[in-house]
Amino acid sequence: MFDISNELSTKKLLEESRSFYFSNKLDHFSIARNTWHSPFDFSVSEYSTLGGISSYYFFKSLNLLIWIKKYYFYIKYTWNILIKNRWYYPENLAKIEKNERENENNIDLDTDYGSYKVMLKTGDKNLSKISNHNDVNPQKKISILQSITKKLFPNSKVNKLFNLGCGLGYETKALSEVYNCNVSGIDLSVEGIEFAKKYNSNSKTTYINKVVDKNFLLSDKFNICYAIEFYPFSRSNDLDFQIEIIEAIFNNLKKNGLIIIYQLDWIKEKSVTENIKKITDYLNIDSKVISNFHPKVYNLIPSLQVTNIIISILSKVFKKTFGKTIIYLIKKW
Ligand SMILES: C[S@@+](CC[C@H](N)C(=O)[O-])C[C@H]1O[C@@H](n2cnc3c(N)ncnc32)[C@H](O)[C@@H]1O
Repeated sequence: MFDISNELSTKKLLEESRSFYFSNKLDHFSIARNTWHSPFDFSVSEYSTLGGISSYYFFKSLNLLIWIKKYYFYIKYTWNILIKNRWYYPENLAKIEKNERENENNIDLDTDYGSYKVMLKTGDKNLSKISNHNDVNPQKKISILQSITKKLFPNSKVNKLFNLGCGLGYETKALSEVYNCNVSGIDLSVEGIEFAKKYNSNSKTTYINKVVDKNFLLSDKFNICYAIEFYPFSRSNDLDFQIEIIEAIFNNLKKNGLIIIYQLDWIKEKSVTENIKKITDYLNIDSKVISNFHPKVYNLIPSLQVTNIIISILSKVFKKTFGKTIIYLIKKW
């Protein structure tokens, strides 16, 4: 180790640093290759001369690379979630769900999964803040969606539905009552599905705990898939990701099957809405988008045009979006 506080002549300092560098070169290689330590382990005082400094940075970079290689998975995971903010990717969301489920101490009611946990334990809608995460009274909304769908697609037969991102199952149960047919509710939340099975079941509902990703495949074929406030569509504008998910959903639909996406407008700029044209062109499917929709306004005046005008005016006056979007994706084959 050099003691730079000693008043050494420049020449002596260089000589010492050179001999230090060569005598320690092998040691550093073996340290870098064989043992783990943080890339910031070397002390600067050891390398405070010209040769020393370059060797310091060389080994530090080497160490950094080894460290990155070793922790690549965690770095990628953090990058995806924190930097790129891709928490909505199925594999990331599944990890978030697992963490929340296994964490009994700091329950975070701002996440779906913290809220589902409290609902499962207490059934208390206020305490769990469940209304921030699920529509717990979706019957009216579902009947309106059904009547609009019937008007737009009068010839489509419906005897089997599935409901992606069903959460606690309120929506799945409502779908089974309104359509009077079998409905499968699917969600990656273990506790959400447990709640749905216990408290939102009837003879027509089935609940499946599953992560919906590009390999999503059910054992049956269905007429309609409902995806209401389903994150891959509502919180992302990642075109490739959405195409993968939509292709996977279509693999579970019969000929002329429908995907019905329903979500708030306020996150429109970061949602599937902006990709619909590209998706329909790429997948060679048909689509129909209804924006500036609101079930309460439509309930009073059952006209899509009038609802659109009222919601547009309200949004302009209050400089805030009130509307919802309904998107139909139609499988042609
Ligand atoms: C905001 S909640 C909406 C729940 C319900 N659709 C509603 O509107 O009341 C979104 C739900 O979608 C589920 N979800 C999101 N992405 C998913 C995925 N890739 N696979 C399975 N479930 C997913 C979440 O676990 C969560 O329960």
